Amino acid sequence: MNSIYKHPKYNYNVVRQFSLMTVVWGIIGMLVGVLIAAQLVWPELNFNSQYLHFGRLRPLHTNAVVFAFGGCALFATSYFVVQRTCQTRLAFPALVAFTFWGWQAVIVAAVITLPLGLTTSKEYAELEWPIDILITLVWVSYAIVFIGTIMRRKTQHIYVANWFFLAFILVVALLHVVNSAALPVSMWKSYSVYSGAIDAMVQWWYGHNAVGFFLTAGFLGIMYYFVPKQAERPVYSYRLSIVHFWSLIAIYMWAGGHHLHYSALPDWAQNVSMVMSIVLLAPSWGGMINGMMTLAGAWRKLRTDPILRFLVVSLSFYGMSTFEGPMMSIKTVNALSHNTDWTIAHVHAGALGWVAMVTIGAMYHMLPIMYGRKYGQMYSIRLINAHFWLSTIGTVLYIASMWVNGLMQGLMWRAVNNDGTLTYSFVQSLEASYPGYIIRVIGGALFLLGMLIMGYNVWRTSQGLTADEGLITDTNNLAQPATT
Ligand code: HEM
Ligand code: HEM
Repeated sequence: MNSIYKHPKYNYNVVRQFSLMTVVWGIIGMLVGVLIAAQLVWPELNFNSQYLHFGRLRPLHTNAVVFAFGGCALFATSYFVVQRTCQTRLAFPALVAFTFWGWQAVIVAAVITLPLGLTTSKEYAELEWPIDILITLVWVSYAIVFIGTIMRRKTQHIYVANWFFLAFILVVALLHVVNSAALPVSMWKSYSVYSGAIDAMVQWWYGHNAVGFFLTAGFLGIMYYFVPKQAERPVYSYRLSIVHFWSLIAIYMWAGGHHLHYSALPDWAQNVSMVMSIVLLAPSWGGMINGMMTLAGAWRKLRTDPILRFLVVSLSFYGMSTFEGPMMSIKTVNALSHNTDWTIAHVHAGALGWVAMVTIGAMYHMLPIMYGRKYGQMYSIRLINAHFWLSTIGTVLYIASMWVNGLMQGLMWRAVNNDGTLTYSFVQSLEASYPGYIIRVIGGALFLLGMLIMGYNVWRTSQGLTADEGLITDTNNLAQPATT
């Protein structure tokens, strides 16, 4: 390895490894996303192969984008942030390396087993028991490294981003161990220890908190470090960030039942989850507003800094999806939205608009530092700008088309004639959904194109090249110098 990549004080090697894999898995996961989106328009694209069937590729997509792309981003950023804010090197270097290679092994195992049809069939927890054990080992190591590093800190205070990362690490460990409890009957087949409505409740306690702690708390950790850093402003209200943290942690745990409205889950449990989901709007928006207000006085930077644009737009989508989620958890609204493409629109407003955009912003901030770049800058700012517009337009096309589809499907399914018969058959609602599915393929392809451009930009950056020499006029507008 080139010595300029070594940092005297911090372990940047693992941060760079995880950052690179974030980009690689992002491209692969979204490529599979575009493929399954296209299969919903042109089913022949499953090439008559069981391995490329929608049913097998869909969990591959979710695992690749959530756990491989999102997971690598969380490892990279949390290792970066904890070192810098605690002013100390990552603890236990051997365990650090194990977390990287172990996590990649988990992902490769998923890439092999899911297309083979080896699955527990629990959404977002599809991987079979041997892989689950490896996940547990990696995760415990991650917790030891993270807590060990905090304990060795040279600063008195534990910065709020680390609180979010720590909650994410601890809660994901709890969720994974409880929800994956299973009885193996062979090397690649196991049965959940829970059954019936209890199985469903445990699964959605897991599923919702995977959203709350994996896709939200962890990424809020990213937000609380990278938004102030990129805007070169302190967090708007540190007090609010602490209130945000504790209220989010306290409320998320109770909301999972909204995935099981009108099911065999007891009514009281459905109602509690509905109320808690509505209450959840307050901490979510508190956090979003805190992030936005951090930019007060720095809005002019948006004109020149596409990285900041990624971060700000991600916050807007966070606000949007955490407004939509509580609305969808109201039982009467859910009666319309459940099982329709509205849910898919909500998912991707959060996943593309929030999770992917905040990740991309953080990566563009970190990668040049990882490569020891002169001005802390990527190879090409213009390409970051192009990426920003492709992502934004792609996300808007994706979610707008799915909203239209979702509302239309919900309304068509419930329409009844005077004599009580259904007005539309299911196939009619499917036919009406085609235009939306085509627009989603276009939106997804644009987002993917942006990721490919990012891949190119990262590759050129790693070679030490610069495309915008002439654009570097005001170094105050750029990320920090490479040495920090
Ligand atoms: C190019 C970008 C993407 C495209 C084209 C895409 C496409 C799709 C498609 C077609 C589905 C299946 C929908 C259905 O069954 O009706 C899906 C599901 C899903 N995707 Fe994506 N996706 C993309 C990016 C992402 C990202 C970045 C994430 C997460 C960070 C994500 C998370 C999910 C999840 C969680 C589901 C399952 C939703 C559910 O079960 O309700 N996707 N995606
Ligand atoms: C206040 C915050 C939120 C609330 C109350 C909430 C609520 C909901 C509700 C009611 C559903 C539909 C359940 C159904 O009908 O089956 C849902 C689905 C979903 N939400 Fe959210 N949401 C929130 C934020 C988010 C965010 C920020 C993300 C992503 C980053 C997200 C990801 C998902 C996913 C992946 C699903 C689909 C689960 C599945 O069926 O596979 N949510 N959410």
